[in-house]
Amino acid sequence: MLNFDLYNPTQYVFGKGQTQKLTTLVPKEAKILLAYGGGSIFKNGVYDQVKAALDGFEVIEFGGIEPNPRFETLMKAVEIIRAEKITFVLAVGGGSVIDGVKFISGAVNYEGNPIEILKKKVLFTDVTKVIPFGTVLTLPATGSEMNSGAVVTIEATQEKLTLGGSALFPKFSICDPTVIASLPKRQIQNGVVDAFTHVMEQYLTYPHDALLQDRFAESILQTLIEIGPSVVENPSDYKLASNYMWCATMALNGLIQKGVPSDWVTHMIGHELTALYEIDHARTLAIIGPNLYRVLFETKKEKLAQYGERVWNITGNSVEDKAEKAIEKTVDFFHQMGMKTKLSENTTNYENTADFIVNRFDERGWKALGEKQNVTLEKVKAIVEMSY
Ligand code: NZQ
Ligand code: ZN
Repeated sequence: MLNFDLYNPTQYVFGKGQTQKLTTLVPKEAKILLAYGGGSIFKNGVYDQVKAALDGFEVIEFGGIEPNPRFETLMKAVEIIRAEKITFVLAVGGGSVIDGVKFISGAVNYEGNPIEILKKKVLFTDVTKVIPFGTVLTLPATGSEMNSGAVVTIEATQEKLTLGGSALFPKFSICDPTVIASLPKRQIQNGVVDAFTHVMEQYLTYPHDALLQDRFAESILQTLIEIGPSVVENPSDYKLASNYMWCATMALNGLIQKGVPSDWVTHMIGHELTALYEIDHARTLAIIGPNLYRVLFETKKEKLAQYGERVWNITGNSVEDKAEKAIEKTVDFFHQMGMKTKLSENTTNYENTADFIVNRFDERGWKALGEKQNVTLEKVKAIVEMSY
């Protein structure tokens, strides 16, 4: 097992009716910026619950954080925080709102040009330099409610870039599974596939000695397979909703990544597809993931076979046979979850996508990616072209 350091300070408050705990979770005397997205919180009652719990606090609202949050939008919130001397930010929404708030939190006291936060991938490690924030999660998918990473898009250059650091964990996250009832089917499908792929990025590498982490990962995958299709149809079923929400958090709160190698190339390529074509994040992963497993078959086949046996109960004559069947099972699952796994089914005019992405990776120096640093630019090209 690799050495590791497990640090996660987020207070995770889970279950029905927990939003009322905001009253005590938000620091006393805080002046709050309530940040939200396009307005779903007004239709499903979440806004009313939050406002009721914040009765007596001074609250300024900032709406309009878009899916795949934009640097340009977030900088407007940064200005408000500076002007109004806000001391605490509350993110109410899905991954986009939470990620946006992480950027805002770091940008307020950042001493350089804030675009550097994204372009230079600044790491925020000093909690005294960021604005503290909490979250009320409305869409289980990204794990952003319990991790310290974020992804922000620069509209001007169509770049989707990451930021993070140990100072950017939420102080608390309220996760009430009843919010799932108001989600459009498409977003639940996305959430399950995003969480599934988060596990795969940290699991589907090569055989190693971290036995418990493999079992953690496999149990999350199995649970998502068990509940995924039905939670889409019955989002008000509390048993399904609560398990879906907990799986999504556990998939990317850092636990399963400890002591193991990880990949993340499906996400790196997927982010480009969202930046270029505004394809939903999870849908880009369903397009790229299986083809990455095919192109990296020699590197990943042992782990693919283990995944096939343990998660899908696949039997076969050889490692290769089981590994191939495991990829097909994964594609079938993505289809069952409403994904269209070809780029051509998700956008038009995609013919130059592979060259475009390869050039961008080349400019950024991303020439040897993945758990074995063997995902070269040629392999990236092959993966994207196979995905057309
Ligand atoms: O904006 P509103 O009106 O709230 O509507 C949202 C949005 O249109 C809607 N929605 C959210 N909760 C709802 C709801 N509609 C009805 N009822 C509810 N309860 O859903 C739409 C999508 O929301 P969004 O936040 O964009 O989705 P998601 O949570 O999937 O977040 C995606 C973003 O997270 C990033 C992605 O790249 C993408 O930008 N990621 C963040 C990660 C992290 N921080 O660790 C990791 C992930 O891999 C991912 O990259
Ligand atoms: Zn993701």
